[in-house]
Amino acid sequence: MRDTKILKVQNINNSSKELDEAAAIIAGGGLVAIPTETVYGLAANAEDEKAVTSIFEAKGRPQDNPLIVHIADLTMLTRVVREVPQNAMKLANKFWPGPLTIILPKSSFIPAVTSAGLDTVAVRFPKHPVAQEIIRRANVPVAAPSANLSGSPSTTSAQHCIHDLMGRVDAIVDGGDCEVGVESTVITLAGETPKLLRPGYVTLEQLREVLGEVLVDKAVTHQPDPNAKVSSPGMKYKHYAPKCKVILVDGTQTQYADYVNSHHTDGEFALCYNEDVPFLRCPSISIGAENNQAEQAVKLFDSLRRLDEEGAQVVYARCPKQSGVGLALYNRLIRAAAFQVVHAASGTEQV
Ligand code: TXA
Ligand code: MG
Repeated sequence: MRDTKILKVQNINNSSKELDEAAAIIAGGGLVAIPTETVYGLAANAEDEKAVTSIFEAKGRPQDNPLIVHIADLTMLTRVVREVPQNAMKLANKFWPGPLTIILPKSSFIPAVTSAGLDTVAVRFPKHPVAQEIIRRANVPVAAPSANLSGSPSTTSAQHCIHDLMGRVDAIVDGGDCEVGVESTVITLAGETPKLLRPGYVTLEQLREVLGEVLVDKAVTHQPDPNAKVSSPGMKYKHYAPKCKVILVDGTQTQYADYVNSHHTDGEFALCYNEDVPFLRCPSISIGAENNQAEQAVKLFDSLRRLDEEGAQVVYARCPKQSGVGLALYNRLIRAAAFQVVHAASGTEQV
């Protein structure tokens, strides 16, 4: 058990004491949940083997799932990687600081535990001023997975972190709600051709505009074969899952509403868009307007957590479009649904 301090950041300019305290805990080998623009991160000194090991323990995370290393300037990048290819600079110039993680060959400063024994390291320069300031003051690269218990939906508010991590970390920095709401886009530049491993707020379309050809790992949209070697170990675990059973329902608004209305029983909910609500005859939680994917991203994880609080047993989730930020929503929801998708029009299931 750890004695967890809540450090509230009112305003970056007059919260110097709290930021110093968070940075000192990280520099001293402790664990701190910090806000980033995507989701909260569970932060420790990426170069401190013991501190990084305690991240895995606090989350209950499998040791073979590598962590993202967060930096607050490009000098830190040259410390944590062996080389900075031209494509990395193109991406950094366009998307950093921001919700993009780039995988590159790892330097010897990063211990094996941080990268789960891989020869590569995932690097991100976050945009959130609180995250940046804490990294700068700690003056070390910061390893941080999402600040949730392993397998649960990621945390997008200090309240979520308190729910999952109270007593497991040294401090939680309360910097308000996350602006983006889904984890960063992960792209690897370690192979011959750039490859998207996890979709996020920086879209595949935007990456292709900068780099030209970008492959998409099969695990982005499909269940990985449990025996196959996956490029991103995090993809093989059941993820983002609330306690309730999630069924993804693909179809138009009418097809979706007809399917849910004819299948739901007591204790079952819909997870839908604002426009669907009037057509549904069961309790529902909306993740935003149908054409506003940014709003849906912000609300997704909070909605999954709320469904558990409401005691939902089964949830019929409207299947997102697989373009733009929708690909990130689809990638998270299909994992929450353990890859179960029902086609509303025919009632057939595809796994
Ligand atoms: O937005 C985010 O990315 C948040 C915030 C805190 O920065 N962090 C986050 O970390 O989502 P995490 O650990 O929940 O997800 C990291 C993902 C995992 O799927 C992991 O397997 C993958 O990145 N990953 C990390 N290092 C890798 C590497 N060297 N090669 C391939 N995949 C890697
Ligand atoms: Mg995570």
